[in-house]
Amino acid sequence: MTPLAIETAGLTRRFGGLVAVRDLHLSVRIGEIFGFLGPNGAGKTTTIRMLCGLLAPSQGRAQVDGVDVGRDPEAVKRRVGYMPQRFSLYGDLTAEENLHFFAGVYRMGSAKRRERVAECLRRVGLWERRATLADHLSGGLKQRLALACAMVHTPAILFLDEPTAGADPPSRQRMWDLLYEAAGEGRTILVTTHYVEEAERCQTVGFMHRGSLIGRGSPEECKAGFAEELLEVDADPIMRAAALLRGAEAVSGVSVYGRLLRVFGRPGAGLVERVPKLLGAAGVAARTVRPVAPSLEDVFMSMTRLAEGGAEER
Ligand SMILES: Nc1ncnc2c1ncn2[C@@H]1O[C@H](COP(=O)(O)OP(=O)(O)O)[C@@H](O)[C@H]1O
Ligand SMILES: [Mg+2]
Repeated sequence: MTPLAIETAGLTRRFGGLVAVRDLHLSVRIGEIFGFLGPNGAGKTTTIRMLCGLLAPSQGRAQVDGVDVGRDPEAVKRRVGYMPQRFSLYGDLTAEENLHFFAGVYRMGSAKRRERVAECLRRVGLWERRATLADHLSGGLKQRLALACAMVHTPAILFLDEPTAGADPPSRQRMWDLLYEAAGEGRTILVTTHYVEEAERCQTVGFMHRGSLIGRGSPEECKAGFAEELLEVDADPIMRAAALLRGAEAVSGVSVYGRLLRVFGRPGAGLVERVPKLLGAAGVAARTVRPVAPSLEDVFMSMTRLAEGGAEER
């Protein structure tokens, strides 16, 4: 059996009457990049804070790098690096001072600390900017500095909470290069993101919805497990076609992508025959109607809808 970096059983966290994380069973292999997805409020940050030993679970167990989080949260804190969703940096300290501060928290000796801080600055491309105040760095550089701070004590597991939020594509690419480099050294990475194309870069993704893990697997497995019918439809006028199909009983969802519609139906709905008839009867011309393979985004849309038990669509 592959050894696990993270293993949880029935992990639950309540805030008063709200169940932020419900009965979570999660396993992450050593050296894996695990992508944690889900809309705002799904419980991703709460899960990470429990796994880092920063927030006590209400129920259930979690083992992180072989340590029981509930029993020994301090030991967990030493073994993990945490890049919080909001910046953890001190704006009035330089890049280098920030790294020294975080290295100091982990009680690194001063010679080792200097060496490691320099190594981290070089690695994330901030050596030339080491004397710049964190507040004066661009968003992308701040994110790289925050990653460096999370890695300064060479943790076995990195928890990165939306490390690329708001970043432009080149900055995101750069961040992912750094994550692959860290994973290549055998570190385990649990990363949350809102970007589906980032989920495609992970070995395994887990999809959270209202505190529950409603799907997990490799991106390929998630797509292979897609249970619905899916059509791509080129129709004119497109928004009228979308409205008609959204109202149709056989259709469980409709997404608009540029000039095309993606139309979802329950298994056996027979959309290929029904959709042209539905549109034709209303005088809407359908240029093409063809079954297509789902993208990861399609899978997540469908999972969310099924979890909500309705035909809700954006
Ligand atoms: N300290 C807290 N006190 C009360 N409610 C909280 C607290 N932290 C998170 N929540 C609630 O728990 C739910 C999950 O939040 P969170 O874990 O931040 O989700 P995500 O990171 O997926 O956006 C939300 O409804 C949020 O409002
Ligand atoms: Mg969050």
